[in-house]
This record gives sequence, C-alpha cells and structure tokens, in this order.
Amino acid sequence: MSSEVAPVIAFLGAGNMASAMISGLIAKGFSPSCLHASDPSEEALSGLEALGLTHVGTSPEGLFERANLVVAAVKPQILPAALTAIRDQLGPHSALLSIAAGIPISSLQTHAGEDVAIIRCMPNTPAMIGLGASALYAADSVSGTHRDLAEQVTSAAGKTVWVASEHLLDAVTAVSGSGPAYFFALIEAIAQAGVALGLEEDVSMALTVQTALGAASLAAQSTEPVAVLREKVTSPGGTTEKALQSLQTSQFDAVVAEAVRQCAARAKALGEEFG
Ligand SMILES: NC(=O)c1ccc[n+]([C@@H]2O[C@H](COP(=O)([O-])OP(=O)(O)OC[C@H]3O[C@@H](n4cnc5c(N)ncnc54)[C@H](OP(=O)(O)O)[C@@H]3O)[C@@H](O)[C@H]2O)c1
Repeated sequence: MSSEVAPVIAFLGAGNMASAMISGLIAKGFSPSCLHASDPSEEALSGLEALGLTHVGTSPEGLFERANLVVAAVKPQILPAALTAIRDQLGPHSALLSIAAGIPISSLQTHAGEDVAIIRCMPNTPAMIGLGASALYAADSVSGTHRDLAEQVTSAAGKTVWVASEHLLDAVTAVSGSGPAYFFALIEAIAQAGVALGLEEDVSMALTVQTALGAASLAAQSTEPVAVLREKVTSPGGTTEKALQSLQTSQFDAVVAEAVRQCAARAKALGEEFG
C-alpha cells in the first residue's frame, strides 16, 4: 500500500472557472475528498457537493490550512480581501495559483504572505468545456511539486503552457485570454456576410460555427503548418484567393496585430493599477 498522501487543492471561489477545473480534476481521477472550496454562494457550493465534494463552506475557516495548492478563482477586485481572510491558514507548505487577471505576483505575495509560493495563470473561457488554453508563470524559487500540481489543475481544463517571464502574461492575455472574443467577432462578421448574400440567419451561423470548429480542429491535428493548410484551400485564380486578396487589401494582418497590441497594452496598464 502506498504511504503517499494525496495533495489537497482548495478553491477560493467556486464560480465558472473553479467549477470547470474541479470537474476536470475529478474526470482525471482526482478524489473529491481532496478538493476543498469556499464561496459565499450556497448555490455554487451545492453544485460542487453534487460532484462529491465534502469540504466546502460559505466561510473559508479551516478549508485552506491543509491545502498544498490554493486556487484563487474570484474576481480580481475581491482577491486582496479574500486572500487576507485566509492568510493565517497559509504557509510554506502552500502554493497559491491565481487565475485573477492582472494582479501581479508582488501584490499576491503581500496579501498571501511572504512564505507562500505564488504561481500566476492566464486562462480563457473555453476552459468551461475542457478546451481552455492557459499559460502559467512562476518564479524560479517555486518548487517542482507545486508547479506540477498547478499544471494538473489547468491541464484538467485544457492545454497548458509555461511562460518564462511574468510580463509575458500580458501577451498571453492578448492572444488567448481575450482571444475567444476575436474569434466570436469573426464568426459574427462571416455569418452576417452570409445573410447579406441571402442565407437564412441560422443556416449562415451554423455553417460559420462548424467551419471555425473544423478549421481549428484541422490546425490542431495536422502535422502541416497553418500557412500550408491555408494555401491548400487557395487555388490560383479561385474563389478563396479572391477573398484573401480582399483581406490583404484591407490590411487584415495589420488590423489584427494592432488589436492584439492594444489588448496587451491594456493588460499591462491594469496590472500596474492593481500592483
Ligand atoms: N482570461 C479569461 O478570459 C478569464 C476567463 C474567466 C475567468 N478569468 C479569471 O478567473 C477568475 C474567476 O472568474 P469566474 O468567471 O469563475 O468568476 P465567477 O463565476 O464570478 O466566480 C467567482 C466566485 O467567487 C465568489 N466569491 C466572491 N467573494 C468571495 C470570497 N471572499 N471568497 C470566496 N469566493 C468568493 C463569487 O460569489 P458571488 O457571485 O456570490 O460574489 C463567485 O461564485 C476571475 O478573476 C477572472 O479574472 C479569466
């Protein structure tokens, strides 16, 4: 019999993102008895109880003291006070994984306590269906055990990458954190254009969404670069070439690059405000 004690992961906040991660961890074989959660909402907690969690409460008291990893999954403006409320339960045994946008490690360290290891994460909303993209950052001083545990949590809700420096999380925000909204905007624009050409609204939307899903899945599964996949749909003198030429004339790449740049700049400014 193994004498290894299973790690405890405690969630501060049991909203959309926490629930997605908890469902993912359970689906991957994590025992619900090792998953704790506190949230003022009884409704949020009863959802977790239905998944088999027993250590849940509207008050954080006693729920975080045994946690090897605390996942901070509350809105950024609430996080400082929520961390201060559990600070006396944290110590060198615990790491904090913050998914709150913008709050820098220096500020998290102040609220959680100097001896707590801090890991930051930028997730995105497709995590809610297990198709999230998360980037993690931790200082070199954070142990491999704490890093592995954090990666298990985010990987349970999709793909995880690590970035080498905290400021790169602003670029991650601009690419994948806010990224779903860019794709939604593109889906809306293409579907509207289809309607202008005479398609029924629901037909145009169904075709567009399925095309986005198919294109993303093909890009993810193919061994060929995305540029080659694009070239393969683009016959010389054909219909796709005409559309791509029109995008180029409208400086599509430059328009997208500027939007992504502005997003990163806003993420940086918000981080400085929180810091
Ligand atoms: N990059 C992205 O696209 C992305 C996507 C999603 C989330 N995030 C980040 O993830 C975090 C969570 O987002 P979410 O969508 O899961 O939010 P959410 O659904 O609103 O969940 C937050 C939960 O925390 C609860 N709460 C409030 N005060 C608390 C406290 N003191 N202690 C414990 N729980 C408390 C809230 O309860 P009440 O509702 O009763 O206040 C709510 O149930 C946010 O910081 C957000 O920035 C980023």
